[in-house]
Parts: sequence; structure tokens; C-alpha cells
Amino acid sequence: MSEPLDLAAFPPSFAWGTATSAYQIEGAVAEDGRAPSIWDTFSRVPGAIDNGDHGDTACDHYHRWPEDIALMKGLGTDSYRLSVAWPRVVPGGDGPVNEAGLDFYDRLVDGLLDAGITPSVTLYHWDLPQALQDRGGWTVRETAEHLAAYAGIVAERLGDRVTRWATLNEPLCSAWIGHLEGRMAPGLTDLTAAVRASYHLLLGHGLATAAVRAAAPGARVGLVTNHSTVAPASTRPEDVAAAARMDGHTNRWWLDPVFGRGFPADMRELYGVELPERQGDMEAVAAPLDWHGLNYYFPVTVADDPTGPVPYAREVRLPGVPRTGMDWQIDAGGLEAFLLRLTEDYGARRLYVTENGSAFPDTTGPDGEVHDPERTRYLEEHLAACARALRKGVPLAGYYAWSLLDNFEWAYGYDKRFGLVHVDYATQRRTVKTSGRRYAEIVAAHRALHAR
Ligand code: FCB
Repeated sequence: MSEPLDLAAFPPSFAWGTATSAYQIEGAVAEDGRAPSIWDTFSRVPGAIDNGDHGDTACDHYHRWPEDIALMKGLGTDSYRLSVAWPRVVPGGDGPVNEAGLDFYDRLVDGLLDAGITPSVTLYHWDLPQALQDRGGWTVRETAEHLAAYAGIVAERLGDRVTRWATLNEPLCSAWIGHLEGRMAPGLTDLTAAVRASYHLLLGHGLATAAVRAAAPGARVGLVTNHSTVAPASTRPEDVAAAARMDGHTNRWWLDPVFGRGFPADMRELYGVELPERQGDMEAVAAPLDWHGLNYYFPVTVADDPTGPVPYAREVRLPGVPRTGMDWQIDAGGLEAFLLRLTEDYGARRLYVTENGSAFPDTTGPDGEVHDPERTRYLEEHLAACARALRKGVPLAGYYAWSLLDNFEWAYGYDKRFGLVHVDYATQRRTVKTSGRRYAEIVAAHRALHAR
């Protein structure tokens, strides 16, 4: 039994949300002027995606968005984190704007607002226009500049109604998984490319922050990064040093520059790749933000791995530790710890959990219901961690469950289901799972507490 949820710890204005991203749910990849992104390309590489899956149809959200907004309304959530597909809005990456693409998000935002749901818009959730990849993608500086221009275009169109903006989602995954590990688009395994990409992603974040603020004066801009707490597998000095390197790679490399500390010197040395720095860049990267978004899923335990890939730290599987269907270790304490670190160590003044959730192999019962006790428990435990963090003074303003819907889970395709709502891909039928109903109950109970 998980502990009862301390609902009173959540402030009255707390945002209860769900999250998705464009390529994972929209489908309609060739409609209304959308051009291919690096994920359309990558998902055609033989062996890149489990079962040869791709996002061509996904959850067909491009056509079914009214139904999906109704689902959110049914859950009682008051915010929704979505991403805008760059290749719908500026299909070539730079150059002509595709009005039909902007129109889609315009309708979606209006639909959300009509339903009383506050949109939180992420500008880049990994779907780089392929045309820009063909010109070097994130390894070249121009891509950061094009991101800013595109961000300004979207903010100008939606900024009269959208105030909560994020520039990037998880630049770590774009850079490290996409350019170093090769498991995500664009599928490179090149340290120099990866480090350059990390630099240009953060630069793009900084330039896009300024562009959004210039186009939409009321905008509240943040960045969404993913983190794990890192523990050494033993007290051996080699393992302790490996944990510090993994922490540098996963956490400090991303947070230090954004919070004004510059890139960590130990990691610069470890990578040994010259950064394409220009005067003024670091000021842009460190522009004070209105909020920071934490995506948290799992902690990691590592041992020294001197002959392995950068950062020479290998994940160790602890026996007897519960894991999700992604084989990710379950530990809600890591969420509390990371919220505290962002607050106490980095001085974050407004935080959102922008993603948190779990995949398990759900099955639909004979009654047509989808009972998912493990996901329900994961949700409850992580909300309890949020409550503890709030009690300790963390300025947490909201929580977005990943995900509203089962969707295209990148290299894992459709097999890994993270939704609070089940999707039958053959019929596109949506069924709220037990976890979704539990979330709705929690949201309603919190509201009732403050309505008294
Ligand atoms: C995060 C991504 C999100 C989703 C979850 C499970 O890394 O931001 O799109 O795939 O993981």
C-alpha cells in the first residue's frame, strides 16, 4: 500500500496536467503541407524502431483532437503540455511559413481554452525538419538561429492566448541519445557531433527564449530537462568517481550553463571536444527563465567502466529493485531529491514536473476495462514525492503526467504504453485506464479541498 496522499501540500493554484508530443500522437505526417522530420527519416531505417513502427498515423490526434480534449476534460485536468511540430509550421526549417500548420495549433489552443484547459507549449520535442538535418542539424550553429526564428513565428501567432512556453524538451536525449548512442534520430554515434549538438541546442534554447519574449510580451518561458539521481554501485573510489562523471553527463552539463555556471570544467575535459563558443552565447544560454521543467522517470546506479563509452560509467542492475516495462528502476525518492536539488543547489524559483510516468504491458479485460495497478501505484508514489518536496519548500507549481495517451514511444514503437488512456491502434478507440480514473479522483479531491 502506498502512503495516503498529502493533498493539502499542493497549493490551490497547482496545475494538474497531462503531456504529449507532436510526433508521438499527431500522425498526418504528409498533410496540410507538413514536411518530413528527422523522425520520419529515422523510423524508416531498418532495425531502428521496434516492430518497424513509425509515426505516420500514431494516435491520429491531428484529426481526433476534439475527442482528446474531451478526454482531458473528463479527467478534470486543468493544463495540457503539447508540442508544436516545427516541420508543420516551417517545413523547410527556415524560409516560408506554412499557414495551414499554424492553423492546426490555433484551433487546438482555442479548443483547449474553451474546455478550460491551459496549454503549455513546447516548441521543440525532437522533430527537427529533415531539411535542416541535411544541412548539419544540431551540429551547426545555424540550426539554433533557425529554432529562434521558428519560435518567434509560433509565439507571434499563439502568444495572445498561450503564456506557458518551453523552448526544448530534453536536449540531453537529442544530443546524447541522438548523436552519441545512435538510438534516436538522427542516429549518429559521434562524440564530437554530440558535444557540438549539445552546445547548439542550449544556444538555441537561449535564442528562442529571447525570440518568444520579443513576440509575446506576456510569455512565461522555461526549459524542460530530464534528470536522474545517480548513485555509485559501491563505495570504491572508482565507482564514486564514475557516479560523479555520470552526474556530470546527465545533470550538470545541462543545468550548470542554464543556471549561469557555464559548462562544467571536468566534463569539458572528459569530452575533450572544443566548444563552438562565441562571445555572448553563454549570456543567452543563461537568460533567467520564468520556470524550469523537470522530466523525471528513474534513478541510476553506476560502476566504473574505463573501456566503455563516455562517460565511462556503466549502469548496474540492483537485485530486487522494482522496474517498469521500460526496465527503468522505480524510485519516487529520486523525484523528491531532484526537485530539492533544483531548488537548493540551483536556486530554481518556479518548477513544474513536466513529465513523469511509467510503461507497463496493459491488457484490456473481458469487461473492456484496462486495469493498470502498477502504473496507478507509480503515479501515487510520485505524487507523494511531490507532496514531500512541497512540504520542504520546493516551489512546485504543477505536475504533468506522461502521458495522456498511449503513443509512439520513439525507438520502442507502440509496444511501450505510457498512457493514462489506452489507445487501440487498430480502431483508434480510447479507453481511460484505472490510473487515469485515479488521477481524476486526486485532481477532484484537491479541488474539493480548496473549494471548502
Ligand atoms: C521522455 C520523452 C517523452 C516520452 C517519455 C517516456 O524522454 O520526453 O517524449 O517518450 O520519455
